[in-house]
Formats: sequence, C-alpha cells, structure tokens
Amino acid sequence: MPTSSNVIYALSDKNQQIVFSQLEQEAATETSVSEVSSVVDSEAELEVDEEPATEPTKAAKDTTQPKDDMYPNCDVNVWLRSCEQEIVEPIEGKVQGTVPEWLNGSLLRNGPGSLKVGDMMFNHLFDSSALLHRFNIDNGKITYQCRFLKSDAYKKNNAARRIVVTEFGTSAVPDPCQTIFQKIAAVFNKPGVNNSDNAMISIYPFGDEFFAFTESPIIHRIDPETLDTEAKLNVSDYVGIVNHTSHPHVMSDGTVYNLGCSITKTGPAYTIICFPHGPGMFENARIVASVPARWKFHPGYMHTFGITENYFVIVEQPLSVSVPTMVVSQIRNRPMAAALKWFESQQTYIYLLDRDTGELRHTFHTEPFFYLHIINQYEREGHVVLDICCYKDPAMLNCMYVDTMRNMQNNPDYAKMFRGRPLRFVLPLNCGTERAKGRPAAGPKGSSATADASWSDMWQNLGSFSAGDSTDSGLVLQNLVQIEDSKATAYVMPNRTIFCKPELLCDLGCETPRIYYERHLGRPYRYFYAISSDVDASNPGTLIKVDVVTKGKLTWCEENVYPSEPIFVPAPDPQSEDDGVVLAAMVWGREEQNRAGLLVLDAKSFTELGRCEFVTPGPVPKCLHGWFQPTATTKGD
Ligand SMILES: [Fe+2]
Repeated sequence: MPTSSNVIYALSDKNQQIVFSQLEQEAATETSVSEVSSVVDSEAELEVDEEPATEPTKAAKDTTQPKDDMYPNCDVNVWLRSCEQEIVEPIEGKVQGTVPEWLNGSLLRNGPGSLKVGDMMFNHLFDSSALLHRFNIDNGKITYQCRFLKSDAYKKNNAARRIVVTEFGTSAVPDPCQTIFQKIAAVFNKPGVNNSDNAMISIYPFGDEFFAFTESPIIHRIDPETLDTEAKLNVSDYVGIVNHTSHPHVMSDGTVYNLGCSITKTGPAYTIICFPHGPGMFENARIVASVPARWKFHPGYMHTFGITENYFVIVEQPLSVSVPTMVVSQIRNRPMAAALKWFESQQTYIYLLDRDTGELRHTFHTEPFFYLHIINQYEREGHVVLDICCYKDPAMLNCMYVDTMRNMQNNPDYAKMFRGRPLRFVLPLNCGTERAKGRPAAGPKGSSATADASWSDMWQNLGSFSAGDSTDSGLVLQNLVQIEDSKATAYVMPNRTIFCKPELLCDLGCETPRIYYERHLGRPYRYFYAISSDVDASNPGTLIKVDVVTKGKLTWCEENVYPSEPIFVPAPDPQSEDDGVVLAAMVWGREEQNRAGLLVLDAKSFTELGRCEFVTPGPVPKCLHGWFQPTATTKGD
C-alpha cells in the first residue's frame, strides 16, 4: 500500500509545504478502518487517538485456546504459531498414495513465520516475519525446507531483540535518539526507504529469478533452491511508483505486469507497470496505462488487478489509504493500518483501461464492497466478466489482529466479520449503442446470493430498484447484460453511470483463489480452486473447487488439517481445464504443530492422489501465497 513518505516524496517542495500544513488538520478529522469492526453492532465512531493499542505486546504462549469455543472446529493457532528453527537442509518426508511421475518441480511458499521478536509480539498477522517454504518433488522424492526472509526489518529486529521497525499493525519501539525534526525529515525519504521491507505475502518469477513481494516497492530476490535471500531491489528506482500490489501477473511469454500507485501533478494515479520479458526486466520497466484515483488524498487500497485480451481491470474499492493520516502516523510512530479509511457509503468503481493506448475506456459502479483477490476476468460477447472474492466491508482485516484472533472463540461476530463470497460482475462494453437493446431482467431481487441469508442481507440494498421500473426521472432501467446465461446485471442509472449487480458463484467463503493460470488468465475459464474462509464451517480447513459455469462445487477436507492456497498444475498435454493436480501445503492444528505436508489432489475429481508428510524440528505456521515452478523450466533453462 502507499506509505506516507512515498506519497509526499513525489510532490514538489512547494507542494510539500502546502500539503504538510493541511495534513494534521485533516488527519485529526478522520477515522480509520479499525472502527470497521464495529459495523456489525455499532455506528459509533472512534477518534484516531482512541484506536486499539498498536504497541507491541509481550509474547504469549502460542497454544492459547479459549474455553467454551464458539468455533470448535477452527484452530486459529495455525496462523499464530511461530517458526522457531529454520530448516536449511531439506528434510525428506514420507510419501503416501501416488504422486504422478510427471510431477517434478518446486512449490515455493511465503507467509507469516514468526509473530515474536525477543519477548515482544507483533499485533497483526501481516506484521509477522516472512517465512519462505519449499516443497521439492524430484522423481517421487519429496523434501521440505523453510527459511526466514532476511529482510532489513528481520535483521534489525533480531539484532535488537525487539521490534524496531513499524509494521502494518504494530508500532516500533520509539527511538529515543530521533528528534521530531528527524521524523518529519524522514517523511520525505525515497519511496520504500522508511517502511518495512518484510515481504511476507507472495513469490513471483521475473524471468529465471524469483522475488518475494509485499506492497512496499521493495522486493527481495531469493534463491529458489536454497531459499537464501540474495538481494534487495526497490522497484521505484526503475519506474515512478510509490507502491505496488503483491500479485503481479506473469504472462505466458514471461512479461510481467503489476498495478502500482504513482503521484502526478493532479494527485495519485493507478498505474500499470510492464516488465518486458528478457534481459533487464527492471531496467526496461515502463508505465503503460494510468487512471487518476477518485480522491486526491485517499488513493484506494488494492491487492490485485485484472487483465484481459484488450483491457487492464482496476477495481477501486472505497477502502482508501489516507495520505494525511499516514504522514501524521509516521511522525507519531503509528502503524500503517491507522491510515486505512473505509467510505462505507461510497460505491466501488471498476475501470477498464485500454491495453494498447493505456487510456481509460470504461467505468462501472457497484455497491461498496471490500476485496483482496480477483479470481479471473475475460471478455465475452461484448462484455468483460469479472470474478472477485468479495466482502461487505473490510472488517476481515480487523479479524487478523493477534488479540482478535486469540479471542475469536469468544466473539459471536467473528465469522460474520469474515463472511465473504465469490461474486461475478458482468460489464457491458457497448453501453451507448446497445442500451436500447437491453433485455428486461428478472430483476435485481432474488437473482443472487439468496441461498445464504446472512450474505443476502449484505446486499439487500441492491434491491432498491427493479429492472423495467420507471425512476423518478422517468428513465426506464434496462439490463444491459446480453449474455443469456448470466444472472449478473447492469443498468444505466439516471446520473448516467452504469451500475452493476453481481451474481453469486458459490455459496461458500472462498479465499486465495487459483485457476489454470498459464492457459486461462484473462481468458474464459470454468474452474477455480480456493481455501475456505468460513471460520464457522464444519471444517474451516476445507479446499474448494468451483465450477463457475454450472455453479457446482467439490470439496476436500480432513479433520484438523489446514491446507493453504491450492495451486493447479496441469498434466503434460492436458485434455481438459482440470486435467492435472492441485497442490497444497498442509499444517495440522491443536498439538500437532511440528507436522507439515504436501497434498496432491486429482484436480478433476478433487480426491487425494497422495501426500508427503514431514516431522519438523519446530512449529510450522500456515502460509499465504506461492508459486509452482516445474523442473523443466527451473533456473537456467
Ligand atoms: Fe494476496
């Protein structure tokens, strides 16, 4: 996400002075996302000064499990446990079942590794020190290793034996030697310099190199065999961005695109960066498309973006990063989470940018929703189909505070705060010329999400108008979506905006969605794979396969097992979209902390083919995102 120093750095000296004088005033009037947790039961606003404590807490035993559990099937400690011993030399596991002979390569993973530094503890899951994992499959032999990412934040914290770098949800221990003037001066540092480089979200290839990502422009090159941290790189050294997403897209020719935020003369802009495949991917990086942010001092928070044959897809949710609050937060040593502001009454905007010209071509509006992960997107019959894992609001970010997680078993609202569903938006591209041909729809009411009362409640205000009805201005609303089998709708509203209403893809909470990426990114597709995000499910460790055509689903689960993001690996010469396997790293809940595994599912039937389990020397926490690199195309090929 953008950081205060990043945004201000890009302004001219004169503008810096003007902006800075306004910041304290504006920040003082804002409230942050930390109050979103109150959405289920209160509309009371909190003052910035009354936000939850962000100082590091004393480390507590990881195995805390409240009594009288409200979610007895969910062991949240799989996220809270800390790796206490790296596994530098790969350990061999015990293979059970059958692992296909053709499956050779490395599953590289990234995620939270340790919430502890000395006797201090981070406050938020996103603050946890990055831990890299590797499952290597070599002709039936499977090994596992894990190592911490040696970021500057990791090294500084461990040298000091305390938290000295401010993270997303945790303030660093204040440096008594730093004056207020030094703190202000630091605001004008180069993008990424002042912020944590703890890249604990994901791993992506740039050519034959692999990088660990977070949302700061600083990324780390890692050795895909040893998991050594080899080099640190600041993307803003090469292209004018102040941040980027931790989910770039890797095209079939190796070219990489990412979405970043740039600062222009007129304010922040969302920019698409192209890293052309070949030598010097960073040196040759360039901005190929751009659209201004809706609000000058509140660029939207974005975690993913989309790409189709002809468009870049940018979804601007009303969760913004408040620049005024960020600057003040940095000076006051407050964590970045304090700068997130949710505009609950503002719509979500969807922008389509022309891949050839870089210009904005279409804008669509929806009800406000929060999201982290776009599943996929593609063009069909004059529309863009866009599938997203959506939440009513960003309360789920609050669900990942350590204290909130520890107390979740006593929190009747926890599951509701985390409630999300995969939704499909269908965006008509020919709104001007085709509007008169819009077919009457069955109506917004009842066309989606009706199977889940709690979910449909979230969208009930979507039914405030009906297709075919006359509005006060006399305009008859016509559904512009021309795809016959689509329940998603779109209407030209009286103010001439195009309002889109989604359809439900699956009545289960789905997160970290993956598709047959190499062949179906940006193209029509049928299947995605995900982990469950319903903490109140009968088994919260469920893996899900969704058929977006039939809306059918298959699931896999095992008691006390918590698989991570399922990654599809196609069989050689695949005969169908789901001809291959799904790989997932596994950890076990409760007392089985020193146990890890690699699960191999048949993607078609979603049944287990085989697995490999490892006994580890210490606890293994659950991981977030990863990348499978087949042996045939590993480094050097
Ligand atoms: Fe992510």
